[in-house]
Amino acid sequence: MRDATTAFRPPAPKPRERQLGPVALLRVLKNNPLEAWTAAHFEQPVVVGGLSIGRVAVISDPNTIRHVLVENFGNYQKDWLQRRILSAGLANGLLSAEGAQWKVQRRALAPLFSRKAVFAFSSAMVEAARALVQRLTISDDRIIDLSVEATRTTLDVLERTIFSDGFGRDAEDIRLAMKSYFETIGQIDPLDMLGVPAAIPRPSRWRLRPMFKLFEGAIDTIITHRRGLIARGGAAAPDDILTLLLNARDPETGAALSELEIRSNILTFIAAGQETTANCITWSLFLLSQSSEWRRKVQEEVDEQFSFDADGIAERLVVTRAVIEETNRLYPPLAAISRVALGPDLLAGHPIRRGTMVVIAPYVLHRHKKLWTNPDNFDPARFFGTARAHVGRYAYLPFGAGPRVCIGATFAIQEAIIVVGALVRHFEFELAPGHQVWPMQKLTLRPQGGLPMILKRRRAT
Ligand code: HEM
Repeated sequence: MRDATTAFRPPAPKPRERQLGPVALLRVLKNNPLEAWTAAHFEQPVVVGGLSIGRVAVISDPNTIRHVLVENFGNYQKDWLQRRILSAGLANGLLSAEGAQWKVQRRALAPLFSRKAVFAFSSAMVEAARALVQRLTISDDRIIDLSVEATRTTLDVLERTIFSDGFGRDAEDIRLAMKSYFETIGQIDPLDMLGVPAAIPRPSRWRLRPMFKLFEGAIDTIITHRRGLIARGGAAAPDDILTLLLNARDPETGAALSELEIRSNILTFIAAGQETTANCITWSLFLLSQSSEWRRKVQEEVDEQFSFDADGIAERLVVTRAVIEETNRLYPPLAAISRVALGPDLLAGHPIRRGTMVVIAPYVLHRHKKLWTNPDNFDPARFFGTARAHVGRYAYLPFGAGPRVCIGATFAIQEAIIVVGALVRHFEFELAPGHQVWPMQKLTLRPQGGLPMILKRRRAT
């Protein structure tokens, strides 16, 4: 553990002096793309280069980012690799949809994640946090992988907020099927990398076909049952995301989502909301375990402000929020956002051809030397009080920006504050002896080998 007064520089790969050759680069990109960035990426506004898959422009200039994500939004689409990976059951969900289908869905789904709706989910989040604290209370002095516990908790929150009346009799089977489902769709099949059309079945997915069918079938049964409750009217149907989704209408046309879109969006919310938020919680706990100064500040805050039945709790935990925002700066769960240019453009003086891949990497942007002071140091003060207003909108993008900004951002931050707040209130954490924490990007940015910690109870539940 570190001294309170020394600046803490959390583990991160040292940028390379020079770009790797094509073969070595592909190997590093496959193992841990964080290790491929060069010093130039952290110093220059735009770096244009070639990859075997085509031209790539990495943009870290806030005005140019605004141009790509907002002003000339129509010229940039999610690239084929992302869409292929996300295909599976998510093809008709908000994350993967494009054009008119995306626009209609976004309009219809926005109210599900409004500030007011998310606020109403705080009791489900508090219940999931309470269950986590109770589970860990019996683990005194044992080594616990907190990344596993965080993932379990974020799934618990999604279950409680999407299907608040539960999965029914086969809950454990459904959970197991769901785990395999999301593990598999998160993997890049070699056929995806080679650009083989999506219609050709992937061997990595055949094996799990029966699991997929069980999971998708279970979701369909839940939807049918819920439609029945809604049809009965009144208070028969629970007030959760599923009911909101089934009742969602395009405010302009009054159209409801199709059956396929409903299922795809349930899968999308779980896929997009589970691991990302779990990583945010995990990294926050790691950073707090290493900074006695901020750990003490968060402890003081939660000792005074946290209780399991408090409404509006996330609004009061302002120090905890600053820690979570700083965590998302240093270890953004989605380390890179990418687009493909549909037509030519000019980005900060660089001509961009049709088909160029444009990468906006929050990991690079958030550690860029031109945009941050001591970018590699952990310092939540950047996000605390009046300092927060000085963080540039397009210099800090853990949730993206523009029309495709994360729809679940408020949900995720509220959840992370509640879970981290509950854990800090009840436990002291110490990294397992000998364990080296190292960031690794595999779809999301996570600690390699998890986060083994020794927990000591601070107070009874
Ligand atoms: C810390 C947690 C999270 C992070 C860091 C995160 C990050 C992001 C980012 C960067 C994007 C934009 C991607 C792009 O522009 O290519 C995005 C989109 C999205 N996120 Fe999140 N997310 C988180 C949690 C959630 C949660 C909890 C949900 C839902 C329950 C969610 C649902 C979505 C959806 C549906 C989209 C697609 C929006 C659209 O294209 O219109 N995310 N997320």
